Amino acid sequence: MTAQKVCSVDELSPASARRVVLDGVAIAVVRDSEGAVHAIGDTCTHGDISLSEGFVEDDGLECWAHGSKFSLTTGAPLNLPAYEPVPVFAVEVLDGQVYIDPSVRLAV
Ligand code: FES
Repeated sequence: MTAQKVCSVDELSPASARRVVLDGVAIAVVRDSEGAVHAIGDTCTHGDISLSEGFVEDDGLECWAHGSKFSLTTGAPLNLPAYEPVPVFAVEVLDGQVYIDPSVRLAV
């Protein structure tokens, strides 16, 4: 499996997220407020909710349904009610384009 191009960095506003599906894996592509790009599992572990519809705050992505925030670097929930982590995927930015390999999980 290789990394796949998903979008350009310019298409991601700071502190925003978008959902992509690569090889059947739903992934939230997140640009944090500092401009760094992350990729974590898009499905909240507390319910079947797309995390990319939530809110980017500091180092986390918050689920809009019940407020669990997931770390962008470890995938761990930072507060209840979720207690299971989401996966974190390898992200590479080359020439302004974002590449993600859904088969390379950095955490979980
Ligand atoms: S569904 Fe995400 S915190 Fe409940």
